[in-house]
Amino acid sequence: MVNRKDTLWEQFLQPIVGVFIDGEQLRQLYESIDWEQESDRVSTPDLVYPDYYKSQNFHGIEGGYLNGSAATSYDPITQYALPPNETWVRQELINRIQGTPRRILDLGCGTGSTTLLLKQAFPEAEVIGLDLSPYMLVMAERKAKAAGVEIQWRHGKAEETGLPEASFDLVTASLLFHETPPAVAKSILRESFRLLKGGGQVLILDGNQRTLRQVNWLTEVFEEPYIKAYATDSVDAWMGSAGFEAVQTQDVWLLNQVTQGMKPLPVDEQVYQRTQRRTIDDFGSEGIPAPA
Ligand SMILES: C[S@@+](CC[C@H](N)C(=O)[O-])C[C@H]1O[C@@H](n2cnc3c(N)ncnc32)[C@H](O)[C@@H]1O
Repeated sequence: MVNRKDTLWEQFLQPIVGVFIDGEQLRQLYESIDWEQESDRVSTPDLVYPDYYKSQNFHGIEGGYLNGSAATSYDPITQYALPPNETWVRQELINRIQGTPRRILDLGCGTGSTTLLLKQAFPEAEVIGLDLSPYMLVMAERKAKAAGVEIQWRHGKAEETGLPEASFDLVTASLLFHETPPAVAKSILRESFRLLKGGGQVLILDGNQRTLRQVNWLTEVFEEPYIKAYATDSVDAWMGSAGFEAVQTQDVWLLNQVTQGMKPLPVDEQVYQRTQRRTIDDFGSEGIPAPA
């Protein structure tokens, strides 16, 4: 692994976490994968990485997510970054899904931990996980195969997916926004709005902005280049300016939050639904009489 030296992460957290992680098992996993061949296989040719992504180290690891060592160490480390329990935290996003989405897109899906939960919660749905790192996608694909679920993995940019508009019922992103400059997070929300059908839902799980503002060392410790800017802003406000309605942020356990919003229905459909509701109300509890 190519690591930057003397980061806060390396000095304090890595030695502690290292006690709980089986380094030998990780090394074997890393060496069992032909990273060049596998990442080429899942890569979109000619994709241009944005500067903010390739020029930064995330979690103090040089090269950010564009290498196999970041992809293999992501899950073992992340389980300690989502207290009190990684699955409980991710499940809070799943719990807020309304209705039964048929097409779901998970942006910045990484190794697919939330994507798998989405598919397991809605086995009939078509689920796509999209990420800028082909290395993370290689791990995601392996996990889905091991779990016996079918998910489509796509190498691409969340802010410019190239997917058709109004083609999804649900768009999600977990732990993505604290890793992007706010301007990029805002364009990801605009792209989510474009991709959703009217009445579709967006759900964003990430670090709790209020807590991060109050507890300064939390924004230092994870060695994330954009986390301070994320902490001082508001996903709620970003969602509102992207056009979403019924926007709401709720705390998730100690350090996280989930923000949800709805893409409004087209006006003619709103009128139709209001008329339908009024018709049912007019007939009271007896409902609409059967035609004679
Ligand atoms: C902290 S990880 C979160 C992964 C996963 N969603 C999870 O909950 O564990 C952030 C992921 O976002 C990806 N990413 C960052 N910027 C992106 C962008 N603009 N478009 C797509 N993926 C992006 C990174 O490659 C990385 O896999």
